[in-house]
Amino acid sequence: MIERFAERLAEWQRKHGRHDLPWQQHGPYETWISEIMLQQTQVQVVIPYFNRFVASFPSEEILASAPIDDVLAHWAGLGYYSRARNLHRAAQLIMQEHQGSLPNDLDALVALPGIGRSTAGAILSLGFGARGVIQDGNVRRVLSRLFCIAGDPSKSNAQNQLWDLADTLTPDSGAESKIHTQAMMDLGSLICRRSKPNCKACPVADDCQALQSGSISRFPERKQVKQRQEELWIMLQLVNANEETLFIKRPSPGIWGGLYCPPIGVSLNQLAADIVNTKQLETEYVGASKHTFSHFRVRIEHYVASVNSADVRVGEWCRTERFQKGVPAPIQHILSREEIK
Ligand code: ADE
Repeated sequence: MIERFAERLAEWQRKHGRHDLPWQQHGPYETWISEIMLQQTQVQVVIPYFNRFVASFPSEEILASAPIDDVLAHWAGLGYYSRARNLHRAAQLIMQEHQGSLPNDLDALVALPGIGRSTAGAILSLGFGARGVIQDGNVRRVLSRLFCIAGDPSKSNAQNQLWDLADTLTPDSGAESKIHTQAMMDLGSLICRRSKPNCKACPVADDCQALQSGSISRFPERKQVKQRQEELWIMLQLVNANEETLFIKRPSPGIWGGLYCPPIGVSLNQLAADIVNTKQLETEYVGASKHTFSHFRVRIEHYVASVNSADVRVGEWCRTERFQKGVPAPIQHILSREEIK
């Protein structure tokens, strides 16, 4: 293995790493919240969401007893809402099974909804100052370059090798493991970037097998992506005489489950028949936009129709700009376009 790897990396982290992120220098609870937010979202986007979330829900206990609508409203815009539902359920389990505090134990952590092995490793090291091993996208990129690990890193063969390497390189002491975790994250995001890595500034460049063999761009190997067809969604914005829009809570589980949107379906006729108790519905086409989920893309066609509130028996009426509950960011974006209102 590489000589003094952890020591050299820690030295670099102290000088060049990140030390002022708002979840640093807090306890396990804040580490947990930040790690869940950072699973699919970039640091700069997460920061204001994190600050609002921990201000409103400063402990496991307060999060567990908050209404899920409140938790989802704090998540609106971050996407991947199952993360928020899992956080809420996990907080309730922590109250029931762990005396109100996150457990300081790998097996107990991964038993909680939304916490995988790497997130648990980050909570142990960054939150508890205990030994914890991580393996997120940044770390996978660093290790697959350092050791020229071939194969799709989302497949178990390459993953097992990467976990073994990550484990071997992680120091035993809790205090050192904490610095090591942050250092690996910082190295991956500041230096060993996906494109244009800054190898000149890398503290372990001399040990990097991919750099030494001129093959940085081949590692990590690219995932095989299946091209999925685009789905067509029809969104029918119903507006009443007070210029209020109808919002319906989306079923959970499901995409955007628990959040609020105007009715969305596969055909205008079907939507009109399901929601509005009238044969005559004149709709106006407003425009279309595209949105990419993790596994598929959708084209959302937006229609508006004026209706009588009495002809609709579901949902809640509110002016779009006043609606306080969680609305998915792409829908919020469509609804707040100038021409619609
Ligand atoms: N990405 C995932 N966890 C992180 C952390 N704690 N700091 C910075 N980036 C991260």
